[in-house]
Parts: sequence; structure tokens; C-alpha cells
Amino acid sequence: MTATIIDGKSFAEGLRGRIAGHVQRLKAEHGITPGLAVVIVGHDPASQVYVTNKARQTAEVGMASFKHELPEDTSEADLLALVHRLNNDDQVHGILVQMPVPKQIDSIKVIEAIAPSKDVDCFTPANVGKVQIGLPGPVSCTPLGCLMLLRDQIGSLAGLNAVIIGRSNLVGKPMMQLLLRENCTVTVAHSRTKNLADVVRGADIVVAAVGRPEMIRGDWIKPGATVIDVGINRIPAPERGEGKTRLVGDVAYAEAAAIAGAITPVPGGVGPMTIACLLANTVTTASLINGLAPPTDLTA
Ligand code: GUN
Repeated sequence: MTATIIDGKSFAEGLRGRIAGHVQRLKAEHGITPGLAVVIVGHDPASQVYVTNKARQTAEVGMASFKHELPEDTSEADLLALVHRLNNDDQVHGILVQMPVPKQIDSIKVIEAIAPSKDVDCFTPANVGKVQIGLPGPVSCTPLGCLMLLRDQIGSLAGLNAVIIGRSNLVGKPMMQLLLRENCTVTVAHSRTKNLADVVRGADIVVAAVGRPEMIRGDWIKPGATVIDVGINRIPAPERGEGKTRLVGDVAYAEAAAIAGAITPVPGGVGPMTIACLLANTVTTASLINGLAPPTDLTA
């Protein structure tokens, strides 16, 4: 079997088009311009690229974009003070502090300082709890993007065996909640899981989020399974010339694509969905902050 390639890039483009329509309506009918503040501390090159893309796409859908670049040696107190200012800024409906933050800053303190009403990452305890019991509000961007691709590819996920590899707060745990909500039977595997290959072999849906290049091999995949690769790993590519690199996922793509029913590529799979879902969450928070019902057609 040769897998269908799940085109996250074009799916995200369509989603951004729908988001732009909602932004237009919020402006025209309610005088609200949704605003997203993105904060980056330090100069990690990968984070810089993500943040630049987030800011550009925010502006492209017609939202206000506020980018705050702070030096590597920023103190925790200074970052918390900025978060408090953004919490109280009426033009800002979403706050994203790019993770990781430098080691002198406690990321949990930063997350807890973000007003839940503006928490477009869905990192705060209040919003994590809301997702768990199914209340409206922002939903973690990467897991939401994965879920949208899965629903588009498969339709109903009810009764399917889903194996998530990775138990992070950013991806693994919220992905578990979302797939449970879809009535999947969910297994969360991690670095201490025994016989990981056999666990993955039972999966109709594989979500790989371990951050280890090409760790999940083709012969671990059940024939016909749907594979969602969240990993973005930069590895040396001497075949492209000295010092060159390339991006790969957590799944050995060519091997897996020969066996899976459908698979996301890296790049061009989950990555573009994460940003689109961030923008969708900002429309949601801008609506809720202003007492309006959030759109139901963006991420449902
Ligand atoms: N670092 C990597 N992914 C993310 C994300 O989705 N949100 C934030 N805030 N930081 C990240």
C-alpha cells in the first residue's frame, strides 16, 4: 500500500480563509479587531522562525499582531510584568509566550500568570480543565490541528485504537483528551513503555510526538493505519553538501508511507495546522471576551 499524503499545508490554508472571514465579520459587525500578542525570550533560531511565522499569519488573516522580543537574560519578574500588561490590554485577546523560556525563568509561573481568557495556547490549568470536561474555550493548538486532520481523513474516530507516543503537556496529554472525546480507545506510550513497537502495531491511529528523529519505524505500523507525525527534527544532511541539514519527523517517513493508509509529511503536515489553530483560538477568545458566541465552524 502507498499511503495517502495528508496535506496539512493546504488544509491550514483553507482554515485560515475561514478565520479571515470571521475576523472580517467581528470588525464589520462588532468593531472588534482580534489581537494576538506573541512573546519570545532569547534567540533560539527555531523559536524565532515559529514566532515570525505566527506574527505574519496573524496579520494575513486581518488580526492585530503584537510581537515582543525580549533578550536572553530577561528576568522572570520582567517577563511576568509584561504578561500582566498584556492581560490588561484591551487590544490583546490572545497571549502566547513561546516555549521554552531561558532557564532563569520558571515556565509554570509564566503560564499561571496568563489570563485564562487570553490563553490561546490552552496552557493554563483553568483551560486544561475546561477541555477535560468539554466546556467551550481555546483548545491546545497542535493536538487540535492533529484532530482536524484525522477527522478529515477518517470521518468518525469512534472505537478506533489510537496510540500517542509522548506524554508532554504540550501535545501528548491534551491529544489524549481530544481523542477520548472522539470515543477512541487511547494508549499513551512514552520513554518507559515496554515493547513500544508492539503497542504501535495495534494502532489504527498513531500520533508521534516524542521529538526523536525517525524513531518510529515502518514495520511498527499496522497496514492501513493513519499516522500523524508531530515531530520536527533537524538532522545533518551531508548528501546536500557540507554542513547542510534537513527536517524529519519522529516517523521514518518512507518506510511508514509504504504501509500506512495515510500519513502526514514533515514539513507540511501538522506544523501549518498548529499556527492556523492558534489563530482560530484567538477568534474564539476575542469572541468570548466580548460576550459573543465563538464560531462553531472553525474547529468543530
Ligand atoms: N513551543 C513549541 N510549540 C509551542 C506552542 O504551541 N506554543 C508555545 N507557546 N510554545 C511552543
